[in-house]
Amino acid sequence: MKTEHNIIESLNWRYATKIFDPEKKVSEEDLFELTEVLRLSPSSFGLQPWKFIVVTDPQIRKLLKEHSWNQSQVADASHLIVLCARTDLDEKLVKSFIEHTAKIRGVSKESLLHYEQMILGTRKSMSDQAALEWAKKQVYIALGFLMEAAALKKIDTCPMEGFDASKYDEILGLKKENLTAAVLCPIGYRSMDDKYASLKKVRFERSQVLLKK
Ligand SMILES: Cc1cc2nc3c(=O)[nH]c(=O)nc-3n(C[C@H](O)[C@H](O)[C@H](O)COP(=O)(O)O)c2cc1C
Repeated sequence: MKTEHNIIESLNWRYATKIFDPEKKVSEEDLFELTEVLRLSPSSFGLQPWKFIVVTDPQIRKLLKEHSWNQSQVADASHLIVLCARTDLDEKLVKSFIEHTAKIRGVSKESLLHYEQMILGTRKSMSDQAALEWAKKQVYIALGFLMEAAALKKIDTCPMEGFDASKYDEILGLKKENLTAAVLCPIGYRSMDDKYASLKKVRFERSQVLLKK
């Protein structure tokens, strides 16, 4: 069954790209669209506990590659997106989110009090470590949206956890911005030399992963 955007065809086309063509750049227009996809991603309570850094500086990317198991995608893709989780999931952030919501929706802060209490209650039930893990889960949703949208546009990506987050935090000065690197997603165009592009996709059969109860 074909759908308008041919989603399944795009998902079969995409693969975790190992070798990017360093000469091929994603246009500003496409980059804008993909970063809008990140911004529009859903998150628990709508809190958006993230920021996304587009790294283009070749020197910085060379340095980051050294702390990413030397994986070439970090330096060679058109753009490197570092998806970061906020480390300041605190009362101040929740209150500013509520204020922002009230302003956008044209309602009073008071009318959102119950919502605010619910978010604060959830946050208070967690340790700081658990809150950070919670934030990172939201970041991975944005990663999924990004990869799917890129595939629909025939732009290659590679989700990457193979990097030293503490080094990224240091090199990109993330700590002082209350952020930590959660996952990477280089974007660009595959190199003709990437043998992984022609490998068969390995997925379990439908009957093994889809259950009916
Ligand atoms: C969270 C996550 C982290 C990953 N980290 C890396 C990585 O550091 N380097 C890499 O080359 N591939 C990485 N991958 C790619 C996976 O190996 C790949 O998605 C998987 O083998 C399925 O293959 P496909 O994406 O080509 O269909 C990662 C994938 C995910 C989802």
